[in-house]
Amino acid sequence: MFDRRYTADCRIYNMLAAAPRHLSFHTPGHKEGKWDITELSFSDNLACPAGVLKAAQEDVAKILGAARSFLLTDGSTCGVHSMLYAAGVKKLVFSAAAHKSVYNGCRLLGIEPIVLPVRYAGSVPLQPSPESIAFALQNAGMERGNGSVGVLLTSPDYYGNIADYAAVRRICEACGALLLCDGAHGGHLHGTPLYAGGYCDLWVDGVHKSLPAFTQGAVVSARTEALGARLAASVDIFRTTSPSYPVLASVEYAVKYPRKLQSERAAERLKERLHARSNADWTKVVVCYGKNAFAVQEALEKQGIYPEFCDGENILFYLSPAQPLRQFKALERALQSFEGLRVNEQNETPMPAFTAGERGEKTEWILLRESAGHICAGDAGLFPPCLPVVREGQVIEGEHIEKLSAAKSVYGLIEGKIAVYI
Ligand SMILES: Cc1ncc(COP(=O)(O)O)c(C=O)c1O
Repeated sequence: MFDRRYTADCRIYNMLAAAPRHLSFHTPGHKEGKWDITELSFSDNLACPAGVLKAAQEDVAKILGAARSFLLTDGSTCGVHSMLYAAGVKKLVFSAAAHKSVYNGCRLLGIEPIVLPVRYAGSVPLQPSPESIAFALQNAGMERGNGSVGVLLTSPDYYGNIADYAAVRRICEACGALLLCDGAHGGHLHGTPLYAGGYCDLWVDGVHKSLPAFTQGAVVSARTEALGARLAASVDIFRTTSPSYPVLASVEYAVKYPRKLQSERAAERLKERLHARSNADWTKVVVCYGKNAFAVQEALEKQGIYPEFCDGENILFYLSPAQPLRQFKALERALQSFEGLRVNEQNETPMPAFTAGERGEKTEWILLRESAGHICAGDAGLFPPCLPVVREGQVIEGEHIEKLSAAKSVYGLIEGKIAVYI
């Protein structure tokens, strides 16, 4: 995975490459110790870094424009939880189209979620407007600047939409709210005006999604030294005590990976030719096939082309700066034969209603197909993008059942059953 043209200043990779061959009487148990090692005398210790990991983290912080950054091998999920703990807020304003880690983080940490309804363009969720955030903050008592509320943006989101960071930052500053960003899909944007780090107090970069890092590689960063100190204590709680060195090396490598302007331009041209949805993030190519989307996905897979996901109407093709341009062309060729099935769907549609129901004392698992009218006892959605289709406390409706039943991969269901209150 590591391209030797770009490893010269990758400290962790070079430390591993130079590691002495040795007899391993240490973990891991596969005993093929060289790349996949544990904390040894030369490999530093992520929990208390003083050598190569400290230097790599400092490099990463500098590149990302942070006071402090922390390498993670537990995915953006760990970054989101660490960030929420470090923020120390009592209430959090975020869009309903947030990842399950945000909902779960609130549950774990006793943070009251203030969930903004999602606006849609056709079937694609949009970013919340700055006005809706200001309104929610006002309702949460933030006009008095009580310092206990945060705003969390998910930006860019899976569909490549990017928040109006500058406007939201102004709103947060005016009332003393912390601004957080789940940038699980934005690691490739540092150094550009679209990067969350230019505006947020705490933010996560899920570098494994859009940059060449191994799965689970992520970074969480803080804007100030004071928040950095809180984040250091926080990652110590949520991070594994056995971080994978190959993943750590890949995170540093990914953050230092050069920007490929040629790929970015080619991606924008590709989107135009495919009539993909317009979005601000070049790595996300979203094409709408309406009710034929699953069939198109299946046909593509038969040709050996695997997209990131299909949400039942749109298919997301995820690009990366490490991807050869000939693959962009292969995608274009393959999609040409489905052009007749593509749907033009850009209009703003009304928000789906959230009908809250009364929570019972107990819960039970019932068949999804028989759950209409029951009150959902845990979030359930498509996996990915891991956004809830139906949320805890919501009345389950026919359209939720239809969407979850059609999906190939879901969360929050077990063997066709969903948890409801009784
Ligand atoms: C918006 C968003 N946030 C957080 C995550 C969690 O990332 P990870 O799977 O790296 O823990 C995801 C994963 O899909 C995501 O889409």
